[in-house]
Amino acid sequence: MSGGEAALEAFTSIYGPGEVRLFFAPGRVNLIGEHTDYTGGYAFPAALTRGTWAVLRPRTDGVFRLASTRFAEQAEFKADEVGRRRGEGWANFPQGMIRELAAAGAKLPGADILYHGDLPSGAGLSSSASIGLATGVALAALEDRTWRMLDLIQMVQQSENRFIGVQCGIMDPFASGMGKAGHAILLHCRQLDYRHVPLQLRDYRLLIIHTNKVRELAESRYNERRRECEEGFQQLRRRLPEATDLGSVGEEAWQEAQEAVTSPQLRKRLTHVVTENARVLQSEQALIAGDLHRFGELMKESHHSLKEDYEVTGPELDSLFEAAIQVPGCIGARMTGAGFGGCTVNLVHREAVESFRQQVEEQYFAETGRQAVFHESGIGDGAREIGKGEQAWRC
Ligand code: GLA
Repeated sequence: MSGGEAALEAFTSIYGPGEVRLFFAPGRVNLIGEHTDYTGGYAFPAALTRGTWAVLRPRTDGVFRLASTRFAEQAEFKADEVGRRRGEGWANFPQGMIRELAAAGAKLPGADILYHGDLPSGAGLSSSASIGLATGVALAALEDRTWRMLDLIQMVQQSENRFIGVQCGIMDPFASGMGKAGHAILLHCRQLDYRHVPLQLRDYRLLIIHTNKVRELAESRYNERRRECEEGFQQLRRRLPEATDLGSVGEEAWQEAQEAVTSPQLRKRLTHVVTENARVLQSEQALIAGDLHRFGELMKESHHSLKEDYEVTGPELDSLFEAAIQVPGCIGARMTGAGFGGCTVNLVHREAVESFRQQVEEQYFAETGRQAVFHESGIGDGAREIGKGEQAWRC
């Protein structure tokens, strides 16, 4: 059964048969450019073929009822009550988005919405952004006016910043909204300029592996990194007054001005961001030139920088990374997403995939006592209505 069919079936069993509409928003894997988005730098994510389906049936009484195939907890509230956060549950993600839509002037007649996803939650593949954006495209489709995808993307970020309390950047919802099958997205996070870059991997495969580690304190440490970047940048600005944000500081300028940052810890954080931005642009060039080995080397450098300078990896991600790069046929590997657990992304020759899997699983288990989980996914299109048209689905 496809994800969409499973979602339709689950909707019927909870809310009963009738006409509905079906929407999908993907998760993302970031290929390189980590912890750069909130400093106005570059990121290089791609949308997955895995994500979140939302089945929606509009109501007319202003009531929202939300259910999920993953969590038992359901939510029910009136459109004018959405400002209040309830508990710590999954429903905060759609609710935060509904709140943003209301603030942007959406009419919001109310709806029954069922969510079904095939992304592992808390794995750093943007399941939360995909829930937010699935909510956005679904509710925007009920409105008379046309909503721009970029506006919905920004609302997802604002919902996470203001309602959920994570000071995340724009990358995750952007990748979920602007994805294109077979392409990565070279995104400039300050200007929100982007281009799709074909992912011609020839004999190589992108493999995503989950550490199977629950992310601990990830949100507070994420916010802490963000604060460190802001503080470091304020110090750097004394020497580089023309710099608009950290993302605008190139490697040469950084070499000359870094003494302005007084704490060695903040210097390390900024070194990561500046060098990572350069690696993103070099990665795009390597991919365009078909130089996958170069791209793989840049992935490894990125991991080292996130480990040594940004300090967001931890023993599980490092163990997965080390196990991967020892296997012949693996030419690149790195953590992906916020870090502190979550997943790695690996570039592996197709003939080496089986031995890679076996060796990585064995070594990782021996070192950490945890089972690595391989997640298969293609690179797919961005958020959309499925089967868009006159006819609604009947279920
Ligand atoms: C999380 C955030 C993103 C980005 C990454 C790190 O996924 O949601 O905005 O900062 O971490 O690159």
